[in-house]
Amino acid sequence: MSHGRQKGIIIAIDGPSGAGKSTITKLLSQRLGYINIDTGAMYRTLALVVKRTGISLDDEEALQRVCIGVAIVFERSNGGYRVIANGEDVSDAIRTPEISLLTSEVSSRKVVREIMTRMQREMGKEGGVVLEGRDIGTVVFPDADVKFFLSASVEERGRRRYEELKAKGEDVSLDRTIAEVARRDEQDSNREHAPLRKADDAIELDSTVLSIEEVLAEMEKVIKSRL
Ligand code: DC
Repeated sequence: MSHGRQKGIIIAIDGPSGAGKSTITKLLSQRLGYINIDTGAMYRTLALVVKRTGISLDDEEALQRVCIGVAIVFERSNGGYRVIANGEDVSDAIRTPEISLLTSEVSSRKVVREIMTRMQREMGKEGGVVLEGRDIGTVVFPDADVKFFLSASVEERGRRRYEELKAKGEDVSLDRTIAEVARRDEQDSNREHAPLRKADDAIELDSTVLSIEEVLAEMEKVIKSRL
């Protein structure tokens, strides 16, 4: 089933924000010795550059220039990874609530999706990768060897995001965080290009009822059966 890929299979993990994709993807790729490609971090990095350069999202040419001009690299660090954009470590700067909202808008633009999709295909084509995002199983790698769709209730996802932000010392409220998660779901699911959608052949796992270990055990079982 590995389509002649040189370094292993391609695993797609899609789902809404806060479903636990990042944690699961990190652990799964570590256990398999695979590379972890966080496509959300790539869109976030673009949003950061858009903010800093001050270009308008309606200026397609400028948007295209920004997309092509940013070199995004994932550097392994302490069992996780850092996101490096044109040599600068942007790992923390891309995780603020402001950038989260802007990312949702930036990532809805057609020109952005085309360029990012191309980059992601290039990064993953040899296999041995776990890609996490919204459209990996539907658009980026519709022929991925294994596809998962990780979900959880909006309240649970909002609560997790709230805890994360609070731990970082951000001044946030639970209700507002849940509302923001719901708003991003809405934007991500209803956009015209590559909306968040479960691929027909993806296996859905609900992390409201399953623990991280249970999700991983389920995934490893499926992966083993496909290898
Ligand atoms: O997974 P995340 O929260 O880091 O994603 C940030 C934003 O990027 C989110 O609003 C959806 C968007 N995104 C996307 O449109 N396509 C992807 N493959 C990954 C993320």
